[in-house]
Formats: sequence, structure tokens, C-alpha cells
Amino acid sequence: MARTQVAVIGAGPSGLLLSQLLYLNGIDNVVLERQSREHVAGRIRAGVLEPGTVDLLLQAKVGERLLSERLVHDGFALGFAGRSFRVDLKRFTGDAVSVYGQTEVTKDLTDARLAAGAKLIFDAAEVSVEGFDGAHPMVRYSHGGRTHELNCDFIAGCDGYHGVCRRSVPEGASQSFERFYPFGWLGILADVPPVADELIYSNNARGFALCSMRSLMRSRYYVQCPLDEKLEQWPDERFWDELRRRLPAQVAEALVTGPSIEKSIAPLRSFVVEPLTFGRLFLVGDAAHIVPPTGAKGLNLAAADVRVLFQGLTEYYRTGRSEGIDRYSEQCLRRIWKAVRFSWWFTSLTHKFSEDPFSHRLQLAELDYLTGSEAALASLAENYVGLPFERTDCKAAPSETSAVPTAPPHR
Ligand code: FAD
Ligand code: DHB
Repeated sequence: MARTQVAVIGAGPSGLLLSQLLYLNGIDNVVLERQSREHVAGRIRAGVLEPGTVDLLLQAKVGERLLSERLVHDGFALGFAGRSFRVDLKRFTGDAVSVYGQTEVTKDLTDARLAAGAKLIFDAAEVSVEGFDGAHPMVRYSHGGRTHELNCDFIAGCDGYHGVCRRSVPEGASQSFERFYPFGWLGILADVPPVADELIYSNNARGFALCSMRSLMRSRYYVQCPLDEKLEQWPDERFWDELRRRLPAQVAEALVTGPSIEKSIAPLRSFVVEPLTFGRLFLVGDAAHIVPPTGAKGLNLAAADVRVLFQGLTEYYRTGRSEGIDRYSEQCLRRIWKAVRFSWWFTSLTHKFSEDPFSHRLQLAELDYLTGSEAALASLAENYVGLPFERTDCKAAPSETSAVPTAPPHR
């Protein structure tokens, strides 16, 4: 029967990044992905990377194209009450964010893994995880018309919100926290120059709009829409008209339109499962938490989980000490809840929740306060570029009690 040290379920950004970092640290791993390589590469999602995520991608040695093609943004704009206000990230944090699509991150990671001869198995069907509450976890899957079994020390559940790993945890062993928002985001991608040099988050009486980009020739725009909206109801012309109406007049005038090359609707939700660790199974990224996209935290939060888990696993395999992996859940949850709070707050500030004009007046008052307060702007800026990381190098003696049954370190 096949064997590896870490079985990684899912080849989204979390799974690929974890796999690459483990590989660079000499830890054997196998990645199992339900979809085809083309399907994974074609999903248009996040676009803004925090500096901490960029650092981790550099550490994973997949930063070359990122550094040459990314757009570095020192600020972004808030649109409201017919005007536009710039939030100076550099001034308040000394840092900047990078505009570089999740599709590109996934491509760079996939290329790097395959070039290194990784065991990266696409089109893996009927993946199931078992035995993670004991010392001998096992993953079963079918591929190429055959059923396969994979023994491992640990399972990393990087399989997104709809994956199998979280659903395999016994009932009663976890608690979920969830909030649904009464709207979605309708997004389009178009090969037209972006309307401005930086992103614009716009609060408008008709609903939220976001102007983003992927490059100097490729724009990504979103408008808030009802949850039950159908794509067929949104021909390009309707989208561009609606977007224009939700932007400050000066911005709307500068908008360059063109045919969409992708169009999709995403629901918004906040979701956290606790804990993230069940014996030898770790939930990572969207498998463990979802945030509404306002503020671009989803992908960055997934990378932050990966950072903690790979450090913990590296320490475990190098020294046999399990403090890092024992603290994985607790350490990640502190950051996760802060990102959940920020994304909820930024969504509440910028979206239309009802027809109630009182609520809109309150939002405008808060935006007026925010843009006039150095303290409030500093708080927004530091959350947007990403909160600092806790130090994770464990220097303490090995703990006597470990939530994870101890296995001999592999060297
Ligand atoms: P995923 O990217 O979901 O990857 C999970 C992988 O696991 C997938 O490849 C999936 O096919 C695979 N998988 C699932 N089930 C199984 C199984 N049973 N067996 C094997 N493999 C399996 N974030 C932002 O910051 N900004 C955005 O604009 C933004 N837009 C988004 C739009 C949409 C429609 C969605 C769904 C998410 C968006 N996000 C956005 C969030 C961001 O894309 C995610 O946080 C990020 O993809 C998380 O990465 P992940 O690897 O944890 O999960
Ligand atoms: C993008 C998405 C976001 O949620 C966000 O806050 C900023 C940018 C994007 O897709 O480009």
C-alpha cells in the first residue's frame, strides 16, 4: 500500500502552497484534487495579496513571476456620497498590497510542484479520509478506474468549503459559526484598462461596487446583486450601466468598457469551524473558514493557516516536538476571527442591507468619521494590509500532553 508523510486533500492555493513548503523542507507529501488541472487553473477568484502572503510565496520559491508582474498598491479608495477618498496604506502601515490573481498564484504553484516531480493527482474521485483519530490515518480515492489507499502520518484538509474533510469529522466534535448575507457579488473580468490606478470600494444607495484589476490591461469589477439573480439577466451593457451608476461621477466618466471574458455570481457568507484540528487531521483555508470577499481576506487567511501548519509540521519532523502542531488550531483561530470581524465590518459599512434610509445615513456618517480620523484610518489600513504574525518558533521543552498521538519523526 502507498505511503506518504502528509496527505494533502485539495489543490487550491492552500493545498499547493502547503505541499510546496513541505517539499522544500524534505517532507514527503501527496496532493489529491477532485477536479482536472484545467478546471482548477480556470477559476477566477481573489486578486489582492497581503505582504505576508507574498513573503510566504517567496519562501516557497514561487515568487519570480509574482515579483515581476504584480502591481504594488500603496493605497485604495473609498467611494461614498459622490466623492472618492484615498486610504494611504503606506503612510499608516509602511506597507503595501500586491495585485496578482489567484489564478496566477495557482499556476505558479502547480508549475513548481510538477517541475519538482510532485505526486499531484488531479481527477481523484471519491476521496475519503479515515483513521485520523488514531495513529494511522488513511486516504482512499479512485483514479484511472482503480481504487487506491494511501497511508500517512497526517492529513491536511485543504479541500475548500464543499470538501470532504470537514464533513468527515464526527458529529459533536466541532462547532460551526455562520452568517449569511442577503446579497451576492456579480463579477466580470474584461480586457480593458482599469478605471483608476488603485482599487475603489464604493458605497452607493443602489448597492456596493468594487473596481479592481488583474493588470494594466485587465479589469475586474463587481456589483452587489440579489442572491437569486441569474447571469442571463446581466448582459454586459446592463452590468456596465449599473457599475457606472454606483461610482462617484468623476470615476464613472473615466470607465472604459468592453466585452466580458468571465462573469460569475458569488454568495457572501461568514463561516468558522472550531477547532481546526481533529487528531491527525488539520483543516486549512476555506475548508475551515469563509469570509465575505470585501477586503480580500479569504486567500490571505488560507496562506496564514498554511504558514502555521507547515512550521509546525517541519518542527515535528525535525525534532519530534509537537507544540507547533498542537497549537495550530488555537493560533490560527485568533487570526481567523479578526479577519472574520474585519470582513464583516467592511461589508456592513459598504453594502446595502435594506431600503431603510436610516441605515444608509448611518453608513455615510461612519464613512465621514472614518475618513476624518487618523486613528480609524490606521485601523482600517492595518487590517487591510494584514495583521502581524505571532512568532511561531517554539523554544519550550516538549509538551507532556499532546492532542496528536506521537509518531516517530521521519528524517
Ligand atoms: P479552494 O480554493 O476552494 O480549493 C479547494 C480545492 O479542493 C479545490 O481545488 C477543490 O476542487 C478541491 N476539492 C474539494 N473537494 C474535494 C475532494 N472531496 N477531494 C479532493 N479535492 C477536493 N477571496 C478573496 O480574497 N477575494 C476574492 O475576490 C474572492 N473571490 C472568490 C470568489 C468565489 C466564487 C469563491 C468560491 C471564493 C472567493 N474568494 C475570494 C476566496 C478565495 O478564493 C479562497 O479563500 C481561496 O480559494 C481559498 O483557498 P483554498 O485552497 O483553501 O480553497
Ligand atoms: C478583489 C476581490 C476582493 O474581494 C477585494 O476586496 C479586492 C479585489 C479582486 O477580485 O480583484
